[in-house]
Amino acid sequence: GAAVEVDISTLQPGEMITVEWRGKPVWIMRRTPEQLASLDHTESQVADPQSLRTQYPTPEYARNQHRSIKPEIFVGVGICSHLGCSPISKLTPGAQPSLPDDWQGGFLCPCHGSTFDVAGRVFKNKPAPDNLEVPPHMYLSDSKLLIG
Ligand code: FES
Repeated sequence: GAAVEVDISTLQPGEMITVEWRGKPVWIMRRTPEQLASLDHTESQVADPQSLRTQYPTPEYARNQHRSIKPEIFVGVGICSHLGCSPISKLTPGAQPSLPDDWQGGFLCPCHGSTFDVAGRVFKNKPAPDNLEVPPHMYLSDSKLLIG
C-alpha cells in the first residue's frame, strides 16, 4: 500500500525531517525536553488542547497533550488546516515580527498567520479551524516508524 517506513534512529533532539506520504509532506520531529515543556505553557492558548475536533480526526493514540505515541516524537502533516498552505517552522522561542511576545516555538502559516505550537495545536482566534493533521502511524521497532 501507500504506507511509508522511516528510520528515525539518527534524528537528533530538536531536528525535524519531512517525508512524503500520499503526496503530502509529513513532518517527523524529535522534540527536546524544553519543547515538550512548552506545551504546558501553550495549553490554555490553543483552541483544541486535547484534539477533539473532527475536521482532521486525530488518531486516538495522539489525543493527548503532545499529540503523539512517544512524547518526544511528533508526526504531523505539514499542511495548514485553513486553506492548505505550508506552515514553516519557527521553532526558536524569542521575539519575531508577527509572533506573540511569549512565543514558545512552533509553526507559522505564512498565508494568513495561523500559528501552531510544537504539537501542531492551533492557537485560539486564528483562521485555521483545526490542529495540524496527525497521520495514522505506528512503531515497527524503537526507531522504525510506519506512516499510513
Ligand atoms: Fe494557513 Fe490560511 S492557509 S492561515
